[in-house]
Amino acid sequence: MIRADAETNWRVDGVSGNNGKPVSYLRISVTDLCNFRCFYCRPAEGVEKIPHSEILRFEEIALTVRAAAGLGIRSFRVTGGEPLVRRGIVDLLRQLAAVPGVEDLALTTNGVLLAGMAGRLRGAGVGRLNVSLDSLRPERFSSITRGGNLSAALSGLEEALAEDFGEIKLNTVVLRGVNDDEIFELVEFAGRLNLCLRFIETMPMGGGRGPDWFVSLREIKRMLGSRWNLELVDRRGGCGPAEYWRTPEGVTVGFIAPISSCFCSSCNRLRLTADGMIRPCLASDREFDLKRVIRSGGGVGEIAEVLRRAISAKPASHGFGEGFVSRRRMVSIGG
Ligand code: 5AD
Ligand code: SF4
Repeated sequence: MIRADAETNWRVDGVSGNNGKPVSYLRISVTDLCNFRCFYCRPAEGVEKIPHSEILRFEEIALTVRAAAGLGIRSFRVTGGEPLVRRGIVDLLRQLAAVPGVEDLALTTNGVLLAGMAGRLRGAGVGRLNVSLDSLRPERFSSITRGGNLSAALSGLEEALAEDFGEIKLNTVVLRGVNDDEIFELVEFAGRLNLCLRFIETMPMGGGRGPDWFVSLREIKRMLGSRWNLELVDRRGGCGPAEYWRTPEGVTVGFIAPISSCFCSSCNRLRLTADGMIRPCLASDREFDLKRVIRSGGGVGEIAEVLRRAISAKPASHGFGEGFVSRRRMVSIGG
């Protein structure tokens, strides 16, 4: 349905991709930089930085959010790299939260900089957090992240827990021979904090020898099922790729399994890269150059037009199964 809207003069409720699902969610990568170098995400030598002038400025991001909200997109997630390393991030988040139509503003972080920042993030209008946590063992955590400090990440998490975020979820990428023996401990840890934990399959995102570490989440679910009688809570209730189960102790465990169980039919999202490209699908290198439109003077209407084109280019299902390896790394797409 198209109706008048004070912001854009026109508004489409739920423009759908080729899977028939309205796009209601935009993920925004605000930087390709990160204070970790997780080995499945970045090579040891680091990655070439995107030049600063190519990174979208705050007002450009805010304009994009305005246009997306005009299209009926209501949920926004800010990611990176590590979004909290971007200078002025709290101000950006405050600006985004104030855009008419933004109902849900979330942030994905590795947690380290939450210490000293969590209260300000909540105050700026961030409602939900996803915190990545691949191990609870200090040496292992440090070796996965190449130098990251587990206790700093846990202090950040603790500080976030003291704020009244609507939701905090933990994300664990399961890596064969690296942390697949820790799945029970991670679930128990999440249970003690009363948090939902989601396991994620590694995706071939240009990070190197991905398949070596790949573990199918079916295997992980079977392992958990051998200890706990898991009860299905939500088989992708329409708002994203995870399937949720609950342990008898009441811990919600999510599975994000893009490889072993294609979830494209429930995909409701677009991605904005830090350098201003709109990516309709994680598993396709097709991108729409939004920055060019913005920097050649395009306003909300022109941006919305690019978003609409990107939505109509969303494939019905992805190409991960066909040996696809993304040219971009996850760190510049934002997960
Ligand atoms: N496959 C799966 N998940 C990944 N992440 C980063 N790279 C990959 C990959 N290749 C995860 C991070 C974080 C989220 C944003 O994406 O660990 O939890
Ligand atoms: Fe940084 Fe996340 Fe990539 Fe790790 S996975 S290097 S925390 S962006």
